[in-house]
Amino acid sequence: MSTKNSPVSRSGRFAAGPAADVAKFTESISFDWRLWKHDILGSMAHATMLQKIGVLKKNELTAIVRGLDQIGKEIRAGKFKWNPVLEDVHMNIEAELTRRIPAGAKLHTARSRNDQVALDVRMWLRDEITALLGEIADLQRALVSLGERNSDILIPGYTHLQRAQPVYLAHHLLAYVEMLERDCERLWDCHSRVNVCPLGSGAIAGSTLPLKRELVAKLLGFVDANGKVQLTQNSMDAVSDRDFAVEFCAAAALLAVHFSRLAEDLILWASAEFNFIKIADAYTTGSSLMPQKKNPDIAELARGKTGRVFGNLISLLTLLKGLPMTYNRDLQEDKERLFDTADTVRATTRLMAAMLRNVKVNKMACALAAGDSALLATDLADYLVKKGMPFRKAHHVVGAVVGLAEKSGKALNQLTLAELQSVDKTFGRDAMSVFNLKSAMAKRNLTGAPGTKEVAKQLARWRKQLS
Ligand code: ARG
Repeated sequence: MSTKNSPVSRSGRFAAGPAADVAKFTESISFDWRLWKHDILGSMAHATMLQKIGVLKKNELTAIVRGLDQIGKEIRAGKFKWNPVLEDVHMNIEAELTRRIPAGAKLHTARSRNDQVALDVRMWLRDEITALLGEIADLQRALVSLGERNSDILIPGYTHLQRAQPVYLAHHLLAYVEMLERDCERLWDCHSRVNVCPLGSGAIAGSTLPLKRELVAKLLGFVDANGKVQLTQNSMDAVSDRDFAVEFCAAAALLAVHFSRLAEDLILWASAEFNFIKIADAYTTGSSLMPQKKNPDIAELARGKTGRVFGNLISLLTLLKGLPMTYNRDLQEDKERLFDTADTVRATTRLMAAMLRNVKVNKMACALAAGDSALLATDLADYLVKKGMPFRKAHHVVGAVVGLAEKSGKALNQLTLAELQSVDKTFGRDAMSVFNLKSAMAKRNLTGAPGTKEVAKQLARWRKQLS
């Protein structure tokens, strides 16, 4: 296809269009087409401003806006034909507009694809972050309601993947709600730096025309919480900066880390060895060979996809490293990495939430595991501390008690008073009351501890905060 008579930037300077393999190598339409909505909105705002400063006549503006709107409708309906010879989404839309409406040739006044693409990506990412934040809140709600549905379930808490101390299942789940909340804060913080309008920066050095940058920014919603317009302050920075994309990918990478940890817990819990949960059939898959298998694939993929989210971050950092000022075509490589990260974390967030809503807790297995009296060995040491024993000594004494229990093949709570006193005389008749799990949980009521009252309080707090 020839680019002759199209508004493509090459048409004046170059005698011929690019060779076919060059076009194929340099095109971005195959992936940046998805910026179309933001590209059109950006062009409408830019045209509106061009009319205000006298570059466009009223009727030209009307025709351009109508033409862009029509193209938008065709794209949405899947009827628009993208042309790879026109490289990217910006040129495809502008070329088609100009083919239909002569005034389209004025649209690119005082604008470069360099500030245009920065604008489109910022607008696109703004929407992605907003959507992702809503999806994370939904995942948090799914965690909270799983905790609420099983508010009386105790499980062992683990360190080093060894049984440590009893916790409410809800407490364990709320740990992820806290992590996700910090992820939301990071994403929202990143949003404030994404939400800055670069249009008017031109290719590198702004324009000699009296553009109204504030007007464009306001039309496109580039304002802070107080309604103050947010404009980039350096044209060279504006066309070459992709920090905002790196920040998003970094926040997303940490989000993916949290997903992978939650996924790992769920995978362990769904194993026959733990057997704490059952994931509904619809959210698991079978094995092509072993008929009995029910695999937690969603959780495994959530864990596995962390790799590509990390990779995308490293790709972006590497892409930017050592780039000379200002725009370089290298920057076109930012989009697939950014898109992939947003797609991946958004899909993972949604699927994890859906899966959690289809998890059943196995009360018996949890009770059996949480009933391991060794989980309360620390409580036994605290008992001695309350009798005046220094903790270091109490730790040593209870260690010896554990050793004795092990040697005699008994659970900790099956030892007799005489056996306890054979280790240390401080143990009294009331020592065994330590192993009452219910009262043990009633005692853990420090802020942030897994006590009965405290966990109920935290569940209620999150329920309210997320509603
Ligand atoms: N498709 C390009 C990108 O994504 C748009 C900007 C191209 N600018 C240029 N001067 N060739 O980066």
